[in-house]
Amino acid sequence: MKQFKLFTTASVYTLTFIACLTACTYRKTDPVVPTCDVSFPSTFSQKVAPVIQTNCAGCHNNANRSGNISLEGYDNIKLAAASGKLLGTINHAPGFAPMPQGGNKLDPCIILNIKRWIDDGSLNN
Ligand code: HEC
Repeated sequence: MKQFKLFTTASVYTLTFIACLTACTYRKTDPVVPTCDVSFPSTFSQKVAPVIQTNCAGCHNNANRSGNISLEGYDNIKLAAASGKLLGTINHAPGFAPMPQGGNKLDPCIILNIKRWIDDGSLNN
């Protein structure tokens, strides 16, 4: 009986470990967004700047730096991207203040294209 208990405990730990590994691996892959056209490169001018302008710039500009973050202009947005905060906040990831504050989470396709722009090197394109 004692041996059985030990076996069960070990199994639970092993399964938890595997489940965690799978979850972590899964999170690294791109989310599949069926309605999202990813056949073209995601550019700063088309897929990032307009989104920030509409959803974020009111609270994050050089005059009004909420959370000490300005998202005015390419350089500031690139900085937020490089720190991981841009994706963390719009993905509502643990450890980040969910953005846009007080608004709905951005459309998954918009988030995916911002991620693609970052993955492609956050170019000023
Ligand atoms: C209504 C105002 C408002 C809007 C709109 C808004 N934010 Fe924020 N943001 C804030 C405030 C206030 C904070 C500081 C909150 C905190 O730290 O809890 C903040 C913090 C942040 C931070 C720093 C968070 C951290 O964990 O350090 C980032 C990055 C950010 N916002 C990005 C964005 C992005 C990207 C958008 C648009 C998708 C956006 N915000 C829209 C008000 C806003």
